[in-house]
Amino acid sequence: MSEQPIRIFISGACAGLAEARDALASHKDIELVGTASEPSKAGSKLASTGAQVVLHALQRPDGVPADEIAKIREHTAAPIVLLVTRSTSALLDEAVELGLNDVAMLPQLTDNLVFTVKKAHSIGVVGGAGSAGGRRTGDTSRVITLFSPKGGVGKTVLATSMAAMYAKRLKKRTLLIDLDLQFGDAAIMLGCDPRTTILDLVMSHGDLDSDKLSGYVTQHESGLHVLPAPLRPEDADLVTEDRLASVLAAAKQAYDVVLLDTPPNFNSTVLTALDRTDELLLVASLEATSLKSVKVCLQTLEMLHYPLDRCHVVLNRADTRVGLKRDQVESALGKSIRFGIPSSKAVPTAINRGIPVVMTDPKAEVTQAIRDVCVALSPEVTMTEAPKSKVGRRERKRAEVDARRAAERDAAIAGNSLMRAPQHSDDELELDFEHEAA
Ligand SMILES: Nc1ncnc2c1ncn2[C@@H]1O[C@H](COP(=O)(O)OP(=O)(O)OP(=O)(O)O)[C@@H](O)[C@H]1O
Ligand SMILES: [Mg+2]
Repeated sequence: MSEQPIRIFISGACAGLAEARDALASHKDIELVGTASEPSKAGSKLASTGAQVVLHALQRPDGVPADEIAKIREHTAAPIVLLVTRSTSALLDEAVELGLNDVAMLPQLTDNLVFTVKKAHSIGVVGGAGSAGGRRTGDTSRVITLFSPKGGVGKTVLATSMAAMYAKRLKKRTLLIDLDLQFGDAAIMLGCDPRTTILDLVMSHGDLDSDKLSGYVTQHESGLHVLPAPLRPEDADLVTEDRLASVLAAAKQAYDVVLLDTPPNFNSTVLTALDRTDELLLVASLEATSLKSVKVCLQTLEMLHYPLDRCHVVLNRADTRVGLKRDQVESALGKSIRFGIPSSKAVPTAINRGIPVVMTDPKAEVTQAIRDVCVALSPEVTMTEAPKSKVGRRERKRAEVDARRAAERDAAIAGNSLMRAPQHSDDELELDFEHEAA
């Protein structure tokens, strides 16, 4: 079990709750991080506290109010335990149906309640409250790394947006790790105020497992968990390759999707990340310098025997009119563009608000394109998981439609603008940088 107390949040109301709350609050293994009698008012409190387990008390035992659970779920992916004064078989059935972790009767011995919290927390850590319910084995989870040897091409924008999309819309238990250890800004882009960073985690004593990891992540309002970069650049070196490898193994064990944001260079951190990456997104923009860097990067990956079928080129701001044609870009890179993301003013606006664009502008074209990438890299969203709630079915249906449109969209985004772009001579557009890449 965790050396740190488990952070709990208590919502709702029922007889005996005040006594249970006081007993839990004074227990050494528990930290009560917040309460709200109305689930609808739990909102931002719940998101900012980073609660690891939510205890939700019910006045009436004749059914689980799905709307109250949905309100809690909007703000956290943490396991939920129902507290009731009387239980019925219908209530237990509904609790199972809604994916709740446990039902505990009040009054209850404090030790029993603490045991229930620990059990929910440990299942939440390994199984993922936002996942389909079974234990997370690690073999179905995806580690997705966003990399580009060129700075400013949109790695962090895409990493944070994809992470929020997976957590909030695709209901995946998701962790974003900022591996730009010196100058990472993922937490700022997400508007998070982290209490701990990856530095605190790797400097902590003892085994570095998924239980330990859960005590150091920050919860974002999308339900996403974030492990930010150290606060000071000089601390980057303290995140050694060995400890990072353990962090990544624990993350893969505990989450459905692990997104890795990276710095714009091939350093030992990136190489450690690549060793454990399932899908590598190489982010490029429509500039000769960026394309050259991606080309060199592809050659380096080949030299390292990295499986290039797991490496996908993402052309960010693919509709920028700079007079390059998609086939020119592809032939210069020697690899096809798998995904295209349009440019959008909504992106810098969202960054300045500290909210991922997929949340500020859920209907924008850029959001749809990011969703397509997420769906394409997570086929089990549409294939194997069949959420039972209405929201789940709707999400799934939409994901299926999006998946069908994805290939079409990529081609259109990268191709259309290039056709509309001003015509230049072939000399001007020459992208043969083989000699530079050698
Ligand atoms: N699709 C987009 N539409 C509009 N602007 C974008 C888009 N993607 C990225 N940007 C802009 O590009 C800037 C750089 O993006 P970002 O910080 O994600 O790049 P990066 O590759 O992570 O850079 P670094 O390597 O320095 O960390 C952002 O501040 C944002 O304003
Ligand atoms: Mg970045």
